[in-house]
Amino acid sequence: MADASTPRRFGVSAFLRFPSVFARDRVIDLVYNASMRLIREIRCYPSDGAEGVTNSWAGTGERASLGAYRVLRAVVDGPVDPRTGYLCDIKEIDRVLRAVVAPALRGVPDDASSLTRALVAAFPAAAEQCPTPAALRTLELHVSPHTRLAIDKGGSGMMRLTQSFEFSAAHRLFSAELSDAENRRLFGKCSNPNGHGHNYVLEVSVCGTDGTSEGTVTDIGHVDRVVLERVIEPFDHKNLNLECPEFAQLNPSVENIARVIWDRLNGAFTGCRLASVRVWETPKTCAEYTGGDDGDDEQMMND
Ligand code: NI
Repeated sequence: MADASTPRRFGVSAFLRFPSVFARDRVIDLVYNASMRLIREIRCYPSDGAEGVTNSWAGTGERASLGAYRVLRAVVDGPVDPRTGYLCDIKEIDRVLRAVVAPALRGVPDDASSLTRALVAAFPAAAEQCPTPAALRTLELHVSPHTRLAIDKGGSGMMRLTQSFEFSAAHRLFSAELSDAENRRLFGKCSNPNGHGHNYVLEVSVCGTDGTSEGTVTDIGHVDRVVLERVIEPFDHKNLNLECPEFAQLNPSVENIARVIWDRLNGAFTGCRLASVRVWETPKTCAEYTGGDDGDDEQMMND
């Protein structure tokens, strides 16, 4: 993987992967230096074969039974081809997920330890077959709409477990350091004195500290109970400004909500440690916090 600042040149492999894009007489001498992350997922049943996809949404092939439905997601990064605008051909990511990762999970017991070991075992072959110049960074297995396992490259194979939750709450965006006019200008109708509400979605990610190389988080119920007690029950159907002490003086922006939730959860788990807190305020806006005194790990994103 080239350093992002190091210009690289196309090789023959790029030509072969995108033959329809390049005329043979064109000089394949393009310089690119961008670094990008691309996320691609497939949906499959354990009994699906790698070939014969007949449903573009679900990818169902020659399904033998209904069984458990799963989502496999790959996160790859690398430079963007300036001529195609592609980081890589996503069909090749699909092929790796269907031909390498999905078979490795077939027949594996539905417990976190077994699935984690299978993902860890499949990672090297998936990374090896990842279409260059893209590099496989993360493999995710979504076992339900609210539970996913992830393995990161360079993360010692340690598993991250992510659980999703929801709560509804009211807030008013307001800074006592600003004038009424400045509050209105900055926060608009979000500074309505009587507040307004959101249906928040909270994603909590933890890593295991059980001493195994996979760091498997086996007690998912424990994670749920801690989040329920420390965040959901205190926040759900509450006015955050008035009923949550952290926001008595602190503006309950989605960034600050993520940080407050981090502080409520950090150190509260047994057998695992908090890795990240992501709060979706709307389907288009979320904040993620991964700790750090300077807040450098806090980021906003739109989706
Ligand atoms: Ni709001």
